[in-house]
Amino acid sequence: MITIIGAGRVGSAAAMRIACMGIDDVMLIDIAEGVAQGEALDIAHACCSNVKITGSSRFEDMQGSELIINTAGLARKPGMSRLDLMKENKKITEAIGKHIAGFAPNAVVMQVANPVDIMTLFMLRATGFPRERVIGMGSMLDMLRFSYLISKELGGHEELDTMVIGEHGDSMVPLVSYTMVSGKPVKDMLDISKINELVEKTRTAGAEVIALKGSTFHGPSAAVAIMAESIIKDRKKIIPASVFLQGEYGFSGICMGVPVTLGKGGAENIIELELDENERTMLSASAKKIEEGLKND
Ligand code: NAI
Repeated sequence: MITIIGAGRVGSAAAMRIACMGIDDVMLIDIAEGVAQGEALDIAHACCSNVKITGSSRFEDMQGSELIINTAGLARKPGMSRLDLMKENKKITEAIGKHIAGFAPNAVVMQVANPVDIMTLFMLRATGFPRERVIGMGSMLDMLRFSYLISKELGGHEELDTMVIGEHGDSMVPLVSYTMVSGKPVKDMLDISKINELVEKTRTAGAEVIALKGSTFHGPSAAVAIMAESIIKDRKKIIPASVFLQGEYGFSGICMGVPVTLGKGGAENIIELELDENERTMLSASAKKIEEGLKND
């Protein structure tokens, strides 16, 4: 069973996608009485697969879950940065972390509420779980957005491999050197000024959607489901996720997006890619931004 905490826009969209993909049974939990139950019923009526979907306002109902996805928290409003959510979401994340440690001590936890890299660290501390069992979803969404923009620019390519690492925020690092279209480096297909423009658009993609419709949840729900599937089905896909670093890429003591192997054990391996000088400089700036965010705690 997968438990999703927070049955708001991201939580309910993720529940719908996980249910329709038939990944596993879903327990939706929200403190707002009735919301999770209503969403669960609404999703069940879609009859898109035979997984069981249940709603609850009781944290103990997460018992027996293999994966807990935490989407509970305030969301950005137009003009806000992810860091603006820090204070409130810290309290919520820590309280939920304690519930998870008590009711699902063997689960893998996927933190989604923002600022995700910082909240993943708070979740790790609150649960006391080993680092491989607490991951953050952020860079996977950035990767979907970067892939979409490149594909659109090339007229709709499907065979596209890319990677985005770093902070889930304006300082993210889309790795152009690891971006291949049908096996060909993107650098051979688009000129560098166009690639840089797409990198910049990727960085502001979330804010662009929020400015237009107030929130973003379809893209995030897709990223959550891809990661959930790799964990529950033990697919061991290489996916960027925010994990606690202990020297990898030269950083320690923060959670930040890096490629990991996602399986039943969570982030089973951290993959250290070789970066060029420019990518290393950008990643250092990204780590600094997370460290500075933590200082405001
Ligand atoms: P929302 O306001 O629609 O839903 C949040 C839900 O959490 C509400 O239903 C609320 O009742 C519930 N909640 C609040 N405190 C709770 C608690 N202590 N226990 C259980 N439930 C609780 O917000 P939305 O749009 O779903 O966003 C949720 C979070 O996800 C925000 O922090 C947002 O910034 C973040 N987000 C992260 C993304 C990422 O890539 N990591 C992408 C999009 C959103």
